[in-house]
Amino acid sequence: GKSVAVLTSGGDSQGMNSALRAIVRLSLHRGMRVYAVHEGYQGLVDGGEKGMEECSWNSVSNILHKGGTAIGTARCRDFREREGRLRAASNLVKRSIGNLVVIGGDGSLTGASVFKEEWMGLLAELQQEQRITAEEAAKCRFLNIVGLVGSIDNDMCGTDMTIGTDSALHRIIEAVDCLTSTAASHQRSFVLEVMGRHCGYLAQMAAIAGRADWVLIPEKPPEPGWEDVMCQKMQTCCGLGERLSIVIVSEGAVDKENKPITSQYVKKVIETKLGHDTRITVLGHVQRGGKPSAYDRLIACRMGAAAVLVLLQATGEIPPTMIGVQGNYICRIPLMECVEATRNVNRAMQECNFKRAQALRGSSFLR
Ligand code: F6P
Repeated sequence: GKSVAVLTSGGDSQGMNSALRAIVRLSLHRGMRVYAVHEGYQGLVDGGEKGMEECSWNSVSNILHKGGTAIGTARCRDFREREGRLRAASNLVKRSIGNLVVIGGDGSLTGASVFKEEWMGLLAELQQEQRITAEEAAKCRFLNIVGLVGSIDNDMCGTDMTIGTDSALHRIIEAVDCLTSTAASHQRSFVLEVMGRHCGYLAQMAAIAGRADWVLIPEKPPEPGWEDVMCQKMQTCCGLGERLSIVIVSEGAVDKENKPITSQYVKKVIETKLGHDTRITVLGHVQRGGKPSAYDRLIACRMGAAAVLVLLQATGEIPPTMIGVQGNYICRIPLMECVEATRNVNRAMQECNFKRAQALRGSSFLR
């Protein structure tokens, strides 16, 4: 029968456990052996009982409702070195594992696809150095890879949503609601900084769902002089009897010259131009914590099941595949296309070509 290893890598996100559970249980149900790899790629590199654990049905009991990832995650330095990847390949081959599911962000998925490209070379080198036998190598002539995007940032092309984004948005909205009552009591302004790296999805959606007065996101740098426009808008609202103002700043927000717009700067603007009593709240890792929302549990479960089906149906070597959700359908997309498109978005943003970045992002949140 087939064997599959599954790992979570990069920043954790709510819903990873649901994906893991679906992968383990559907694999077992369909007769595959399944290994949980601990601490991201590090577990592959280290091997041993601690690094790679064969799963039973109960290995994934009681995790569905928990945030984070039950098998640990890391941003692994060893795996970036060839020796690390040689050790990882050897640990897979020794267990006759020819299938790998990676749940992580674009960096982790790129790592998976590089690993696959090198696979033949790695096996040849391992054989030459007599670290694996010819029989062991023959059993794992290729490595089939499937990627699931686990990230709160929703920054990957090829999928409408990434696992964890919806839960993070819930955390932000809860925080906005909390700030609203204290802000209104004191007639204060609040600047709320949210995560998302170079993607403004969380900020933009939180602004809509949380009735923010203004929002700053990386994909849409404001026109020069925006400070006055923002303050005018806030003043108008005060004139209409609003007792509070909330400005949401994406951690990656920039101006037209790609210079970061910080929460401190926004606070200073509001204080000097409007004289408002202003406070900053940086939500930070709270956004990555807590229970996964129903939506994240569902898409993660569906994506996990789809990943297993891809591997089960493969009769030979398949190109690295990403599982995404498009228009509420779970779909299979070539992984490298998604990685490449995501890289192009980031490149366009660095070059201040924001129109192109918006068009390439593919997600509809800016429309
Ligand atoms: O990619 C997820 C994310 O939470 C980003 O939103 C944020 O910029 C980054 O990870 C924080 O990284 P770390 O957990 O390493 O501090």
